[in-house]
Amino acid sequence: MSQSLIKNIGLLVTNNPSLGKTELGLIENAALLIEHGKVAWVGASESAPTAEKTVDAAGKAVIPGFVDSHNHLIFAKDRAAEFSARMKSESYTAGGIATTVAATRQASDDDLLANATRLVHEGLHSGTTTVEIKSGYGLTVKDEIRSLHIAKQLTEETTFLGAHVVPSEYKGKADEYVDLICEQMIAQVKPYAKWIDVFCDKGAFTTDQARKILKAGVAAGLKPRLHANQLAQGDGIALGVELGAASVDHISHFNNGDIELLKKSKTVATFLPGAEFSTRSNYPDARRMMEAGITVAIASDCNPGSSYTTNMGFVISLAVRDMFFTPEQALWSATKGGALALQRDDVGHLSVGARADFVILKESSYIHLAYRPGVNLVDEVWQHGKRI
Ligand code: NIG
Ligand code: FE
Repeated sequence: MSQSLIKNIGLLVTNNPSLGKTELGLIENAALLIEHGKVAWVGASESAPTAEKTVDAAGKAVIPGFVDSHNHLIFAKDRAAEFSARMKSESYTAGGIATTVAATRQASDDDLLANATRLVHEGLHSGTTTVEIKSGYGLTVKDEIRSLHIAKQLTEETTFLGAHVVPSEYKGKADEYVDLICEQMIAQVKPYAKWIDVFCDKGAFTTDQARKILKAGVAAGLKPRLHANQLAQGDGIALGVELGAASVDHISHFNNGDIELLKKSKTVATFLPGAEFSTRSNYPDARRMMEAGITVAIASDCNPGSSYTTNMGFVISLAVRDMFFTPEQALWSATKGGALALQRDDVGHLSVGARADFVILKESSYIHLAYRPGVNLVDEVWQHGKRI
C-alpha cells in the first residue's frame, strides 16, 4: 500500500516554521499523509484527506527521524577494557584507535558488514532514519576500500577517513602516509565515498597535512568535513571554513576567532556529547555558538573508542542536561541540524515532499526525550513511508 494517513498526532514537529509554531514548526492535533514514501500533506487532523490506510497516533508526539551525521561503524571488536580503565583514571588519547585498526584488518568482510548492520539497525530502532558512516579503521588502500564498500551497502552518506591516525607501519613517516592517501587511496575509494574527513588534532594530523588531504579529496570530487579540536585547540575550525567544509565536528575546544569565522560561513558546528560523556571530558560551550547564530548539529559519533552509543535520544539528554541546550534546540540539532551537516534538504523535516522518515513517540511531547533519559520512548519508526 503506498498511501497512509497518520492522524490524531497530539504534537507534530515539522521543523518547518511556516507550517506551525516556533522554529520546530509545531502543529497540535495534526495529521500527516504519506504517499510513495514522501510526505504528501500535513496539517490539522480535522481537515485531513482520506487515505487507503489510517494509523491512529492516539495523541502521541511525532518527530522527524533523527539524522545522525557522524559515525564510525566499520570496525571489529570493542574496547570495553579501555573504557573501564578510563573510568578509573586513564585519559582518552587518539592512540586507542590503533587497537581497533588491528582488529578491523583481521576481520572478514562478512563480519564487518554484520557488525555495522547491527549498529545501523540499533540506531534505526531508536529513531535514526539517516546515518552517516566513516571508514578509518583500515588505513591501507585495501582496507579503506573494503570499509567504504561495506558502508555504501548501508547508507548513501559515506565518508572516507583514511586520515584517522597515522598507522603504526608509517610511524615517524606521517608525510609518506599523507602521500599514500593523496596519491592512491582517494582515487580508489572515490566510487564508494561521498565525503572526505580528516582527524585534525593533537596526536592525529596537523592542519597542513589535513589541508593537503582535503584539497586532494575535493579535487577528486569528494566533499569536505572534518574532525577538529576534539583534544586540543588548533586551527581545524579555520581550515574547515577555509575549505567550505559542510561541518566541523567535535569542536570541544574553540575560541572567539573560531566563532567569528563560523558566523560568516555555511559550515555547521557539530557537537558530539557522547564523546565527552564517554571520555569524561569537559563539555564545550555550545550555547555560545548558538547565540552567535551558528547552525549547530548533534550526532552520536558511534565508535568503539570514544562514544559507543547509537542512541540519539541519549545524545539529546546529554545536550540538554550537560550542555544547556533547550529541549527544542537539541531536537532541532538532532534532526534538521544533522541534515544541514550532510547538506540534505529531503530529511530532518516533515514538509510536503520530504522523505517520510518519522518517529511516533510513546509520549505526548518531544520534551520527554531529555526528561526521561535512558528510557525507550520510540513507539514506531517509519522510514521512506514504511513502518519498520
Ligand atoms: O570521533 N576522534 C577521532 N575518532 C573517533 C574516535 C575513534 C576511536 O577512539 O576509535 C571520534 O571520537
Ligand atoms: Fe568521530
